[in-house]
Amino acid sequence: MKFDIITIFPHILDSYFNESILKRAQRAKLVKIITHNLRDYAIGKHKKVDDSPYGGGPGMVFMIEPLFKCLNHLKKIGARPPKPWRRRVILLDPAGKQFNQKMAAVYSKLDQIIFICGRYEGVDARVDKLIDEKVSIGPYVLSGGELPSAIIVEAVSRLLPGVLGKMESLQYETFSGKKSDIIEYPQYTRPENFKGQKVPKVLLSGNHAEIEKWRKGKKK
Ligand code: ADE
Repeated sequence: MKFDIITIFPHILDSYFNESILKRAQRAKLVKIITHNLRDYAIGKHKKVDDSPYGGGPGMVFMIEPLFKCLNHLKKIGARPPKPWRRRVILLDPAGKQFNQKMAAVYSKLDQIIFICGRYEGVDARVDKLIDEKVSIGPYVLSGGELPSAIIVEAVSRLLPGVLGKMESLQYETFSGKKSDIIEYPQYTRPENFKGQKVPKVLLSGNHAEIEKWRKGKKK
């Protein structure tokens, strides 16, 4: 699966994408994550990507032309015929539809997601014709769409076959999006006694039926 991230800070996510699960997934060619510098598509003498809003108001607005050019380019190089290429263009926007596990599952069936990371006060409204949807990662405002895009890349990549180890994927196979499916029961590891806080005896008993019963009872 290919993730294209359009941003004016193309290196801001480098260290995150180059560690741990996403690093392995890229090495194994299960995912491809490419950032694109919007400034490479800037137009005019001054290579601007943003400008002040018509009608006045604070801040700067992303111009539509660099986005249009960049998207056109990515759409051209993206598709791999003969199979139909399933692609979605997403604008990260705090006012968008709130991302959840179900959406991650839908996205994981795609071939390509193109993210547009907004910044400043917003993006020229004519972007609506260029995108499939606006997505928010939660009801709070960040400085841009870069972190939200990384969160979606990670949540989706985890669902792709082969990205997680067997143990990890088994644990999340039945995840439905409810909190109760995430943290099933309290977990402990060594030491048995930490400053007087002891591991429940049943977990040390070796009695698997009893352990199972205890864990079920502790489910939140
Ligand atoms: N850009 C700024 N805040 C955001 C959020 N919460 N979700 C997605 N994009 C954003």
